[in-house]
Amino acid sequence: MKNILNKNLDLKGKRVLLRVDLNVPIKNGAITETSRIEKIIPTINLLLEKQARIIIISHIGRPKGKVVEEMSLKPISEKLSFLLKKEVLFNEGLINENTLLEINKISDGSIIMLENIRFNEGEELNDNNFAKKISTLGDIYVNDAFSCSHRSHASVEGVTKYIPSYFGLQITQEINALKKITSEIKKPISLIIGGSKISTKIKIINNLIKKFNNIIIVGGMANTMLKHTGVGIGKSICEYDCANLIKEIIENSKKYNCEIILPKDVIVSKSLNGNGKEKNIDEIDENEMILDIGSKTISSIGKIISNSETILWNGPAGYFENPNFQNGTEKILELISQKTSNDKIFSVAGGGETVAAINKFKKFNSFTFVSTAGGAFLEYLEGKTLPAIKALNQNV
Ligand code: 3PG
Repeated sequence: MKNILNKNLDLKGKRVLLRVDLNVPIKNGAITETSRIEKIIPTINLLLEKQARIIIISHIGRPKGKVVEEMSLKPISEKLSFLLKKEVLFNEGLINENTLLEINKISDGSIIMLENIRFNEGEELNDNNFAKKISTLGDIYVNDAFSCSHRSHASVEGVTKYIPSYFGLQITQEINALKKITSEIKKPISLIIGGSKISTKIKIINNLIKKFNNIIIVGGMANTMLKHTGVGIGKSICEYDCANLIKEIIENSKKYNCEIILPKDVIVSKSLNGNGKEKNIDEIDENEMILDIGSKTISSIGKIISNSETILWNGPAGYFENPNFQNGTEKILELISQKTSNDKIFSVAGGGETVAAINKFKKFNSFTFVSTAGGAFLEYLEGKTLPAIKALNQNV
């Protein structure tokens, strides 16, 4: 593993392309959660100590190769500058001839951040020419973005074909912790999976069934499962095009003896800003949406947590940003953290929204390990080789 800690790596005056994941939640122009920004600071400080010239590359959101003003990294560059107490220059616009000119102006031990890399069409397509273009902006490349290393995109995968590439500090820490989980796992093992990125995660559940004794499905993912098993979910968020996949999930859970647990009761409301009302899942009206799990569901989850040796959690149980819908997420956190602090369980949490919930309820030290990664974390657990990590290992 080629790591930036390597003592022989002389970075003085070198242009280091540092790929990080600054995909943080932003509401009305304000960053609501900063963990992903804070976690990259040790890598930046190390590169600064080594007098490198740092070019930060990141994405936010899914702009699909178009410039979307609300998805600019500008506010994030300002936040990073504030946290580092150091100037972070910002390069607006797409990558073009001027980008290299601007980069070449910065001095040793300073930082420039490029605009959202996903504004460039070639990024998500992993276009070879675009990857090559990125590589010409630096002397070496460092990936410190474990949380998007499951994507075969130009700035995480393609670029490594053209430039000496290294692992950053945070990605190394994440990989080491996750390796430990997969090799020393104790059963019964349960997974709690929720959140709003339904399309990415629903496919993953099917592959995780073989490895878990229980899979508890909450949040937007539970709505999708309920809808496809004939439950009326009103106007709740849901993925419609996955009937066959859900059929397969149910069949496989029986085959591999994995219990799938869905909400029995939920908290509904007519709007995200409204008040909550507890209902059984067969009582939801057309104009209501599910925004949290109910008390009977919380109590069943509590029993499963208490009978487990290992718990993995990815994705909140509801729309916890509104205090009326935070109870499910907060209770799950309390139950896991109690058992972890009594040394009775091995617990791991992962994902942007999950980390935001952990911070909101001030439970950061309540897990054996907290990963900033969501989709990448789940794919790693599936046993998949993440394309960006494979590419780093192949880089010579
Ligand atoms: C994440 O938030 O999990 C990563 O930034 C990856 O984002 P993506 O699912 O939009 O690729």
